[in-house]
Amino acid sequence: MAKKAKMVVDRAFPIAQIDKRIYGSFIEHLGRAVYDGIYQPGHPLSDEAGFRRDVIELVKELDVPIVRYPGGNFVSNFYWEDSVGPVEQRPHRLELAWKSLEKNEVGLHEFSQWAKQANSEVMMAVNLGTRGITDACNLLEYCNHPGGSRYSDLRRKHGQEEPYGFKTWCLGNEMDGPWQLGHKTADEYGRLAEETAKAMHIIDPTIEFVACGSSNRQMPTYAIWEDTVLSHTYEYVDYLSLHTYYGNRSGDSNDFLAKSDDMDAFIKEIIATCDYVKAKKRSKKNMYLSFDEWNVWYHSNAADDDITENHPWQVAPPMLEDIYNFEDALLVGLMLIVLLRHSDRVKVACLAQLVNVIAPIMTDANGEGSWRQTIFYPFMHASKYGRGVALQPVLSSPRHSTSGHDEITDVEAVAVYNEEKEEVTIFAVNRNLEEDVVLDSDVRSFAGYKVAEHIVLECPDLKMVNAFGQENVKPQVTDRTTLSNGQLTSMLHKASWNVIRLVKQAD
Ligand code: AHR
Repeated sequence: MAKKAKMVVDRAFPIAQIDKRIYGSFIEHLGRAVYDGIYQPGHPLSDEAGFRRDVIELVKELDVPIVRYPGGNFVSNFYWEDSVGPVEQRPHRLELAWKSLEKNEVGLHEFSQWAKQANSEVMMAVNLGTRGITDACNLLEYCNHPGGSRYSDLRRKHGQEEPYGFKTWCLGNEMDGPWQLGHKTADEYGRLAEETAKAMHIIDPTIEFVACGSSNRQMPTYAIWEDTVLSHTYEYVDYLSLHTYYGNRSGDSNDFLAKSDDMDAFIKEIIATCDYVKAKKRSKKNMYLSFDEWNVWYHSNAADDDITENHPWQVAPPMLEDIYNFEDALLVGLMLIVLLRHSDRVKVACLAQLVNVIAPIMTDANGEGSWRQTIFYPFMHASKYGRGVALQPVLSSPRHSTSGHDEITDVEAVAVYNEEKEEVTIFAVNRNLEEDVVLDSDVRSFAGYKVAEHIVLECPDLKMVNAFGQENVKPQVTDRTTLSNGQLTSMLHKASWNVIRLVKQAD
C-alpha cells in the first residue's frame, strides 16, 4: 500500500496575501545575461532596439513582476554615469567583479525599456562598494526626479523626459563578503547604508530600501551582521536581503532535496534576528525580507574559475552557465514552497538569475534560438498559479532521513487561494526518491470547487537536462487527483513536482 500524507486546506487560515514580487528575478551585467542574452543586435529574432523577442516572450511566460539590476557583485564597482547618454560615447571598462570587459552598450535607459516590454519593474541597486552617498543620490536624482536639477536635466537631455520612477532600491550587494569590491565590516556598512537611505529619502520619499543581509548562512559573521546592520538602519529601510545557492556537490540527491529545509531555517533565523532588533528598539515597525538571490548554482563553478583565472577581460564570456537537471527543478520547486510559506515576511524574492547566467532561460550559443531549462517549469507554475493568499499548510507527511538531515518530510506542500479567479492551487513535491505517496487533502472549505488539472513534472532520470530543441523535462497533465465529499486524493509519484488546481464550478 502506498504511503499517505494528509493536509488541510482551509480558507479560514491564511498566511498572508502573497506579494507578487516574490516571483521576481535578476539580471546582472555578467556573462551572457545582458549581451547575447536579452540583447543581441542584428540577431534575426531581435527587435529594432536589439532586444531578443524570443527571450522577452519566455520572460513573459514566467511573468516576472520585478527584476533586480545591474548586480550582484557587478554593482560594487558600477559607474552609472558610464551607462547613460549616447551609446557611442560610453566608455569601455574593466569589470572587476567578474574580470570581463563592459562595453556599456546596454545601460540604464535600455534596461528600463527592456523591463517595460517584459512587464517588469526594475529593482535598482546602488554601488556602496567603491562609491557612496553622493553617487547613490545622483543616480536617484537622474532616475526619479522630474526635472530642473543637474542630473534630472541630464536624463531629459538624454531623451528621457519622464522619470523612470524606480520604487525599490538595494543599498549595495553582499557587503559582508571579502570577495566584494569595497567589502565592509558590519558597522562600516550599517552606518553607510543608514546615511545613504536617509539622503536618498530626501530626494524621493516614496522609495523603499533593501539593506544587505549576510551573503549566505555560512558566513562567519552571520546573524551578528544582521543585528549590527539593522541596529543602524532599522528605521530607514524596509527589507533585509537574504541570498542562498545550493548544489549537489557530493552527488547525494536525497540530501540535496533536503536543502530547502535549510532555506526554511535560514528564513526563520533572519525573522528572529529582525524581531530581536525590533524589540531592542521598541519599534512598532516590522522588517520584511527580500530573498533577492536564490537558486541552484554549482554546475559551472570550475569553468567560471578557468575564465576568470586564465581568460580574463572578455566581452560577455559564457559564465555561470549552469545546465540544470531534473533534480535541480525539484529543489527549485521546494524552495518556492518555502518562500510561499513565509509570504507574511518575504515580500520580494529574486530567482538568480533570469537569462543564460544560472538561469531558467537560455539562448543557444550558436545563435539559433532560446530554450527553457528544467527549473523554468516550477517557477512558471508558481508565478502563474501562486497569486492570491497563501494558506497555512496543516500537513502531516511520512518522513525519511538523509546523510545530512534527520527525519525530513517526504512531502512538502502549500496551497494558494486566488479569490479573484476563484481558484485554489496546491503545490506539492514528493522528495522521497524511492516511494510514491498519496496526498489526502481536506478541502471542505472550498465547497463547489472541482479539479481543474493535476500537472506533474517528473523524470525517471534525476540527471536529465534540457537543451536547445530538446525538452526532455517538461510538465504533463495527469489524472492522478480525484475529489469526493471535500476530500482530495492525489497520487504523488516519487521525485515529482505537482500542481493540483481546483476551480469553482459554474452555478
Ligand atoms: O548571482 C551571481 C552572484 O552571486 C552575484 O553577483 C552575487 O551577488 C552572488 O554572490
